[in-house]
Amino acid sequence: MTNPTFPRDFIWGTATSSFQIEGATDVDGRGPSIWDTFCATPGKISDGSDGSVVCDHYHRYKEDVALMAGLGLDAYRFSIAWSRVQPKGFGDWNEAGFAFYENLINELEAKGIKPHVTLYHWDLPQALQDRGGWANRETVHHFAAYAAEVGRRFGNRVASIATHNEPWCTAYLGNFHGRFAPGFTDVALANQVSHHLLLSHGLAVKTLRGQGVTAQLGIVLNQSDADAATDSAADKRQAQLEYENFTGWFMDPIFKGHYPPLALEVYGDAAPKVQDGDFEIIGQKLDFLGVNYYFRAWCSTDTPKIPEPCELGRTDMGWEIYPKGLTDLLVRINREYTDLPPILITENGMANPDRIDSDGGVHDKERIDFLQRHLGALKDAMDAGVDIRGYFEWSLLDNFEWDSGLSKRFGIVHVDYQTQKRTLKDSAHWYREFISQQKKG
Ligand code: FCB
Repeated sequence: MTNPTFPRDFIWGTATSSFQIEGATDVDGRGPSIWDTFCATPGKISDGSDGSVVCDHYHRYKEDVALMAGLGLDAYRFSIAWSRVQPKGFGDWNEAGFAFYENLINELEAKGIKPHVTLYHWDLPQALQDRGGWANRETVHHFAAYAAEVGRRFGNRVASIATHNEPWCTAYLGNFHGRFAPGFTDVALANQVSHHLLLSHGLAVKTLRGQGVTAQLGIVLNQSDADAATDSAADKRQAQLEYENFTGWFMDPIFKGHYPPLALEVYGDAAPKVQDGDFEIIGQKLDFLGVNYYFRAWCSTDTPKIPEPCELGRTDMGWEIYPKGLTDLLVRINREYTDLPPILITENGMANPDRIDSDGGVHDKERIDFLQRHLGALKDAMDAGVDIRGYFEWSLLDNFEWDSGLSKRFGIVHVDYQTQKRTLKDSAHWYREFISQQKKG
C-alpha cells in the first residue's frame, strides 16, 4: 500500500486522556472522580483493574514526552483531570495539580510539541456527582468556572482547548447503558445530561472567548455515518435515526440550533428539558471541530439482524474495520453543516492483542494496515473538499480502556504494567517514518 501525501503543515500527533494513563490518583491533593468510584464497584471493570497506577504517567511524563519527540510528533492531545486541579469541582484550586500540567506543557514546549488540551474526558469530580452530577444544571456553571481557570493559566500557551471529549459516551454509556461511570440506566436522565454537557460546552467557549485566549476553541465528538443494511424503508429510517441519535444529536444543536427532529420525536417525553436561550449559548462559533472515528453504524431491522460485512475484519474490541466510513462521515457532515470550522481528527486507532515477541519487538502489522487505510480514507475526504488540518492517533501508550480495564491495548507504544517499561511497537516506528516522509514532502 502506498502512503498518501498530506500538506506540509498538516498536524501529526497522538492522543491520550488523564484517567487512562496518569495513575497517581491519590497523591498531591487530587480529589476522587466518578471513575475511581466506578472502578471500586465490583463487576464494573472486566478485569477488575483501576486507574491508580496504569502507565504512571504522572511520574513518568518526561520519559513519555521524550518518546513523542523521538517519533517526531508535532502535537500531543491530553486531558486535564478536573479533580486534580479542583478536588471537588467547586471551591479551592489545587496548585500541585496545576503544577503537573504546567510541567507537562513546559516539557512539551521544550521539545517543540504543541499541547492540545481537553477539559473533560469523563472524570467528573465525585463531589459534583454527589450533588447530582451533569443532571444538575449547576454543574454547567462549575464547568465554566473550571474552564476559565484553565484559560487564565494556560489559554495562551496551548494550541487548542476542547471542552468535552465524546459527550455521547458521558451521557449515554454513563447514564443510559450503565457501562461507564456513573453507571445509571435512565434514558431521560441521559438526555438531560447530554443537554447540560452541550450547555456547559457553549458556556465554557463563551467564557474562554471573553478572556481572549489565543488557543483554538472547539469540542471533540465521536461520530460515524450510518449505513442501512438494505434499501428497505425500515432500514433507511433506522439509519437516519441512528445518525441523529449519535452524530446529529450533538452536531445539530451546535451548528443548527436545535435537536434533530426524528430523534426528538422518538424520545417523546424523555426528550431533554431546554430553557430559553440555551441553543444560543450552545451554538458558539468554534475554531475547530474534533472528530473521533472508530467504526460506522450498521443498521438492520431484520430478525436476526443482517451482520456488518466486515470485509477487513474486526479489531480486538470487536469493532468492524471500515476506513471508508471515515470518508463517508466527513463528506456527509461537510455537506450537512454549512458553517463547519476546520476539522481535526482527534482520535483514530485500534485495539490489538499485542505482545512482546521473542526478539523484543511488538509486531502489530494489523495496526499499521489500519492506520494506512484510515489515512488514505482521510485524504480522500480532503480531496473531496473537506477542510481537515490534523490527525491524532489513539493512542500513544497502551492504557486503561474504561470498562475493559487493562485488557485492551490501543497504544503504538507497548506498556508493561508490571515494570512500566515502554517498548515502541512496529506501528510507532512506521508512524515516525510516515511523519518524516510527510515533512520532506
Ligand atoms: C474513545 C475514547 C478514548 C478511548 C478510545 C478507544 O471513545 O475517547 O478514551 O477509550 O475510544
